[in-house]
Amino acid sequence: MAKDSLTIVDNRTGKQYELPISEGCIKSADLRQIKTGDEDFGLMAYDPAFLNTASCRSAVTFIDGDKGILRYRGYPIEQLAEKASFLEVAYLLLEGELPTKVQLEKWEHEIRHHTYVHTNVTKFMEGFRYDAHPMGTLLGAVGALSTFYPDAKDIEDPHTRYLQRVRLISKLPTIAAFAFRHSRGLPYVFPRNDLSYIGNFVNMTFEIGGKHEPNLVLQRALEILLILHADHEQNCSTSAVRSVGSSHVDPFSAVSAGIAALYGPLHGGANEAVLVMLDEIGEQKNIPAFIEEVKAGKGRLMGFGHRVYKSYDPRAKLIKKVAYDVFEQTGLNPKLEIALELERIALEDEYFIKRKLYPNVDFYSGLIYQAMGYPTDYFTVLFALGRLPGWIAQWEEMLRDKETKISRPRQIYIGHDERQFVPMAMRG
Ligand code: ACO
Repeated sequence: MAKDSLTIVDNRTGKQYELPISEGCIKSADLRQIKTGDEDFGLMAYDPAFLNTASCRSAVTFIDGDKGILRYRGYPIEQLAEKASFLEVAYLLLEGELPTKVQLEKWEHEIRHHTYVHTNVTKFMEGFRYDAHPMGTLLGAVGALSTFYPDAKDIEDPHTRYLQRVRLISKLPTIAAFAFRHSRGLPYVFPRNDLSYIGNFVNMTFEIGGKHEPNLVLQRALEILLILHADHEQNCSTSAVRSVGSSHVDPFSAVSAGIAALYGPLHGGANEAVLVMLDEIGEQKNIPAFIEEVKAGKGRLMGFGHRVYKSYDPRAKLIKKVAYDVFEQTGLNPKLEIALELERIALEDEYFIKRKLYPNVDFYSGLIYQAMGYPTDYFTVLFALGRLPGWIAQWEEMLRDKETKISRPRQIYIGHDERQFVPMAMRG
């Protein structure tokens, strides 16, 4: 009869071991019993970048990379993007269930009434250079929020955790908008609680002289983009939030670690990198030469490829549709034609087919953000706004998980054996 176990024979000793298999995994710690002798530390698994290691059990997001499936709490991303609001999705991620009408109204009310930040936040925002990258500003400011809310350290108390959840989701758009205004030398626009979550954010970024004409199609497009970014299981930034959070630091500090991870060009910074790449290509006639350079290993086709999706990224499909809705309002972004042609050529090219490289969520999102009027260096801030509920949901799940311990990977030491200190006069 089939058994849920793995039999290992250690050829160094001839000993046989039986390790239990649960949920398709063996526990790496079970390998430690495999030793060559008493002095041996025991067998470890070597997995830089966690290519094949589950770091947690999670009920938040399901991805099947081969089939191109993404679900939040069981609901397909396509349905959420079509039917839900961003705050509804945030509630779903955080609470595990879609809200009832009453629950949603309460949630929206709470978010609406925590949008203001302490006035000192505007003061230290002033300290950033006029040309500070808004992601640098965002990560610094969110980290600093922990000093305004020392109660956030009480991470064991569910009521306190809930309050920080509300504070983070309410205040991140305000801080993000301040970062935007700061980088443009514009005065800050304060939150308006008569507006929707998205409407208020757009107003804080674009209002000039007390006026802003809202475009509801663009606002819904932005909302869909935020929904598509809201969680993505154990990606680089979420792992950063969990890992830093496992030290029991407050959630503002843990989330700012997530923002720092998202800043990198291989993660959230890719949408910015796509636009830079499209600018460099400049014209359609330059595409074949650019593709040849990528294939020769001189740079990457930004916005292509994904660690998990190996058939297509379902978010990229949805975003392409949103792009057309947006361009109907704003006029065509001339870079779209280069992007479409780049995608067409790449999808027919053996190099990309063989490596299962498809457009990811970032391939088109930057073009949309640009059409909406956001500068290139601001794209990743918009990504952070979207990802925030996922970070918090994963942080809380990590805290409540009885198996959680402080994150602390092992290493294979490849340095020197012990050696004696060499006095300065005898060196070199
Ligand atoms: N352009 C050209 N070649 C690529 C690309 C790309 N965008 N992505 C991967 N490859 C190639 C690699 O060179 C490698 O080729 P090789 O086997 O000949 O050495 C092969 O495909 C596998 O690549 P890895 O780097 O091992 O794949 P990994 O899963 O580690 O990387 C990643 C995934 C980081 C997303 C990668 O595809 C990449 O750099 N893409 C461009 C940046 C990007 O768009 N990032 C956004 C990701 S989505 C997100 O964060 C929201």
